[in-house]
Amino acid sequence: MSSFKEKIDKSRLPKHIAIIMDGNGRWAKERGYDRIFGHQNGVTSVRETTEAAAEIGVEYLTLYAFSTENWSRPQSEVDALMELLIDTIERETPTLNKNNVRLMAIGDLSRLPGSASEKLQRCIKQTEKNTGLALVLALSYSSRWEITNAVKNICKEVLNGNLSIEEINDDIISSHLTTNTIPDPDLMIRTSGEIRISNFLLWQMAYTELYFTDIHWPAFKKESFYKAIYDFQQRERRFGK
Ligand code: IPE
Ligand code: IPE
Ligand code: MG
Repeated sequence: MSSFKEKIDKSRLPKHIAIIMDGNGRWAKERGYDRIFGHQNGVTSVRETTEAAAEIGVEYLTLYAFSTENWSRPQSEVDALMELLIDTIERETPTLNKNNVRLMAIGDLSRLPGSASEKLQRCIKQTEKNTGLALVLALSYSSRWEITNAVKNICKEVLNGNLSIEEINDDIISSHLTTNTIPDPDLMIRTSGEIRISNFLLWQMAYTELYFTDIHWPAFKKESFYKAIYDFQQRERRFGK
């Protein structure tokens, strides 16, 4: 069985891959377990995908881990997800360092419980000098939150006289988003069969190639990731030209 990894053209890799990790709840339900069990097993896929991206030489991997709207889930599920986040970050920091992975985070991090945000900031600090893959966690993130924030900040600069209305362009807007140091995604993967964006990187994905798979997130493995990259490489990107 030849693998997708071998078929990938290493000279034309997507620089930035973004993933909507969906289907943890359904994966667990299909097996007769509660949703939390699905989230716990989703961590294995996070590890697999991060390793796969680092191995092949992808520069940025953004994982949508928790949306603004996810705060409206039952408190017990939110608590379990936050606890899982803390435990995972703490446990995986040495591995991230070993693999030269730099952790970053985007989203309204002020909404995270104190302990989660502390552990997150510590891991970001401890991995900031790494020069390999940048692993970007989207936490308490939504595109509308991000764009609203950007609009507010741009307005402030205009009112302060630091920016004129005529100067506002694509680049100014991009530079006010939480992704300002990160290139736009080349490829976006969503698992679990839902064909929607769910408030993820709306501005940044203007020309991103979209890839949808029926596989639930906990069942998404390295080969599933490589298959998506291979599929991406069969496409012609025209950017309207
Ligand atoms: C994705 O799985 C994880 C998060 C959104 C935190 P879900 O929890 O959305 O699982 P499904 O989509 O209900 O199966
Ligand atoms: C999107 O999944 C958010 C994350 C994966 C973190 P959801 O399960 O929350 O999205 P919808 O409700 O299916 O659109
Ligand atoms: Mg879902």
